Amino acid sequence: MRMRRIRNNKILREMTEETSLDVKDFIYPLFVVEGEKIKREIPSLVDQYHYSVDMLDDEIKELERLGIKAVILFGIPDKKDSVGSGAYDENGIVQRAVREIKKNHPDFIVITDVCMCEYTDHGHCGILDDCGCVINDETIKYIASTALSHAKAGADIVAPSDMMDFRVRAIREALDENGFKNVPIMSYAAKYASAYYGPFRDAAGSAPSFGDRKSYQMDFHNSDEAMKEVELDLEEDADFIIVKPALAYLDIIRRVKETFNTNLVVYNVSGEYAMIKEAVKKGLLNESIIYENMIAMKRAGAKLIITYHAKEMARLLKERA
Ligand code: PBG
Ligand code: ZN
Repeated sequence: MRMRRIRNNKILREMTEETSLDVKDFIYPLFVVEGEKIKREIPSLVDQYHYSVDMLDDEIKELERLGIKAVILFGIPDKKDSVGSGAYDENGIVQRAVREIKKNHPDFIVITDVCMCEYTDHGHCGILDDCGCVINDETIKYIASTALSHAKAGADIVAPSDMMDFRVRAIREALDENGFKNVPIMSYAAKYASAYYGPFRDAAGSAPSFGDRKSYQMDFHNSDEAMKEVELDLEEDADFIIVKPALAYLDIIRRVKETFNTNLVVYNVSGEYAMIKEAVKKGLLNESIIYENMIAMKRAGAKLIITYHAKEMARLLKERA
């Protein structure tokens, strides 16, 4: 067998590609801030911006022009408190952003990240007890009401990222009881406690003021444990499963893909993006590294990719077509 017979011809190579990408595969993260007329580059994430609600319309139009179908929203409130009141306020930053986008773009898919760390003054993803530990069963009530407030604002999908136990079930119950039976849950099921989130925490102002997130996010030494997390979230009726981060976790993606019949999403996180952008800017790596990485996530088993590279990828796919 001469393996090179096919490799010799560009068209034959393309015809025999086992993995491909489509612009529909990408979900673009957007950061929304208080204020007006703000489109400000995020220092820790080159080419990514903070938008005020009034500036979202132009951005969504650009995404639509590029063929991108979905965003995931993160809110950065002005005020924080110990119980993250801004997270479930019907006039909170994310709730207003959702209403603004859906008003003019009813078919554009708006996913909301559901968590408390951007809204709590201590920066943890839940409610603390007197000793500073995140209380699981108390927190999921807040998470469920946050998700419900997003659905009421018009979110198409809610995406809990807190990693509390039983929060998918709590959200499902809250949605079902309030007339949102058809709003899907995209669960960050296997989310690892990772140093790759650094640039995001600077962008969202959500770094914990003490300690770390290891009592709720997963330990990266583990893989079997991720299977258990995914299994439980599917039992609780999650519609999509997220593995996060992506590139150092391709083994987890592949294992989830082979173990479960589900809609598998990977989150190509801020630190992964920042490293690539820096290396390309310095001329150490060619820009084609971005496409290569996206294919790697797809090949590992991802159906959808949440990535800060979504717009670059949309342009690149247009050029290739
Ligand atoms: C909130 C949240 C985080 C990310 C997504 N949702 C940060 C964290 O868990 O500390 C990280 C995204 C990224 O790094 O791009 N819980
Ligand atoms: Zn959080």
